[in-house]
Amino acid sequence: MTTPPRGLPIETNRFAAIDGIEVRMTEAEAIELAKKRIGKRPIVLVGLMGCGKSSVGKRLAFKLNLQFVDADEEIERAAAKTINEIFADHGEAHFRDGERKVIARLLSNGPQVLATGGGAFINPETRRRVKDNAFSIWLRAELPVLMRRVMKRDTRPLLREGNPEATMQKLIETRYPVYAEADMTVDSRDEPHDTIVNEIITRLATGSDGAPPTTLEPNPSRSVHVELGDRSYDVLIARGLLRDVGALIKARFGVVKCGVVTDENVARYHLATLEDSLKSEGIFAGSIVMKPGEATKNFRDLATLSERLLELGLERGDLVLPFGGGVIGDLAGFAAGILRRGVRFVQIPTSLLAQVDSSVGGKTGINTPQGKNLVGVFHQPSLVVADTAVLTTLPPREMRAGYAEVAKYGLLGDAEFFSWLEANWQSVFGNNGPALTTAIETSVAAKAAIVARDETETGDRALLNLGHTFGHALEAWTGYSDRLLHGEGVAIGMCMAFRLSEELGLCPPATSARVAKHLRAVGLATKIADIPGGKADAAELLRLMGQDKKVKAGKLAFILVHGIGRAFVTRDIAPETVLAFLAREITR
Ligand SMILES: NC(=O)c1ccc[n+]([C@@H]2O[C@H](COP(=O)([O-])OP(=O)(O)OC[C@H]3O[C@@H](n4cnc5c(N)ncnc54)[C@H](O)[C@@H]3O)[C@@H](O)[C@H]2O)c1
Repeated sequence: MTTPPRGLPIETNRFAAIDGIEVRMTEAEAIELAKKRIGKRPIVLVGLMGCGKSSVGKRLAFKLNLQFVDADEEIERAAAKTINEIFADHGEAHFRDGERKVIARLLSNGPQVLATGGGAFINPETRRRVKDNAFSIWLRAELPVLMRRVMKRDTRPLLREGNPEATMQKLIETRYPVYAEADMTVDSRDEPHDTIVNEIITRLATGSDGAPPTTLEPNPSRSVHVELGDRSYDVLIARGLLRDVGALIKARFGVVKCGVVTDENVARYHLATLEDSLKSEGIFAGSIVMKPGEATKNFRDLATLSERLLELGLERGDLVLPFGGGVIGDLAGFAAGILRRGVRFVQIPTSLLAQVDSSVGGKTGINTPQGKNLVGVFHQPSLVVADTAVLTTLPPREMRAGYAEVAKYGLLGDAEFFSWLEANWQSVFGNNGPALTTAIETSVAAKAAIVARDETETGDRALLNLGHTFGHALEAWTGYSDRLLHGEGVAIGMCMAFRLSEELGLCPPATSARVAKHLRAVGLATKIADIPGGKADAAELLRLMGQDKKVKAGKLAFILVHGIGRAFVTRDIAPETVLAFLAREITR
């Protein structure tokens, strides 16, 4: 049975909305609803060692007044040996067989919270049983979090030999795509376990995604048209589209050769699926796998990539397929733009940022020592295919960074969308349900409308840079390092744009507090002091802001706001005003 944990009360105002209607309820009501949704089924927690299955499981069971059962303990009891002894005496195969039988038995015991060993859900038979008889929750954690937790203990047989971190990384690569089949995905971060428990109960209670039935929800398929005359194209958004890319391309472009450009991270999880899809239609020319990260957007890699695309034999009528985040999209899009004076390309974005922003609109390019994105061309894709399922392997920090761009569309021009995000963000981050698709579709539609009005940024396309003048300066100040991801800089920059607008009397008081509250709730940074590793200098930041592409005749362009959803461009802010503002911001 469970030991009573310290419980954080569920905040009664924090509940997500159902169909856009905000629902408020007490903790007791939430627990009641969550239990009703689960019915007679057990809740099964899956995930890697160190993700918190036991700690979260015990607290969840306590709150729901259910029994907590640890499958590993049951296996040890049944064998009268520790798991390490079973591994040592009989090997892993014997252990897995016992695990399968014990879990099959436990699943027939009705409502309970069952924590399973990291490999249990990987077994196809166990997975099928869990799908048929239980509600599964994947506690997803990043490598550093897992390592910090497991290295405190010395009981894990799979980590006993070789390099434990490399072993764990391998397990992440092979198991995360399988765990993603769970009914609900919850991020397990370094925060109180009760916060995670409350998130689970909230999502079960509100029926925001991840609620039963245990089968995946219908595949919400959406499409947004980007109207640019003879350069118009569609953005297709749906879960599982990757498998259909070959057929989609053949139907739209005929039998063409496709050269895929990706990075090592994306290749590890998803390249085989894309290649199979292209091969099955006879249109695969080859794949080029680049190093991941911003540093790849440079002249040398552009040259190498261009030559390798030519080696694949791509001709004018063929297609380049950038398959990755914004880095790969910008680099390979640029390569397509200059290869044989311009070949067509189909963007297959795999990060949230790329799906909602960088893959649409035709800006391509690379960085130079003088600054970011200073060399490039406008080259519109011929099609964008966004498969939301690939986002399940995106690191949570990258997901949050991409979300900053989603929030941006609400903040710059759609107050209603921002309110919807405030109510539904947990579902957006949930397990690939309709809320995520809606957020992507709404963002893409907003971007498409602006791009259609102002393709080459002579006017209001600049609005898309809300938060970016400050954000880019912060990125430059942190040396484009791990200290600050692009989207994180945008989140801080947007909060600063709202605070500056408020200080200048341009927008109602308390608006900036509302914006920061939402971004903080999501887990994003909202002020300069949130960036780890060193204190900024106001004059240095102002100098870096001067490098912005939007500087004209020495005057900085600012995207400021009259309120949520009411952004505008101005060049009328005096440098002294900005300098004093930056000095205040640094000490916030
Ligand atoms: N062209 C535009 O209009 C535009 C707009 C916004 C941003 N950008 C550019 O986009 C870039 C940032 O894009 P980003 O945030 O996607 O960065 P990114 O391409 O570096 O991707 C982030 C990280 O996630 C990994 N990754 C991507 N998809 C994954 C998946 N499905 N599973 C596991 N790992 C995955 C990548 O390997 C990388 O390590 C910047 O260079 C920025 O300048 C361009």
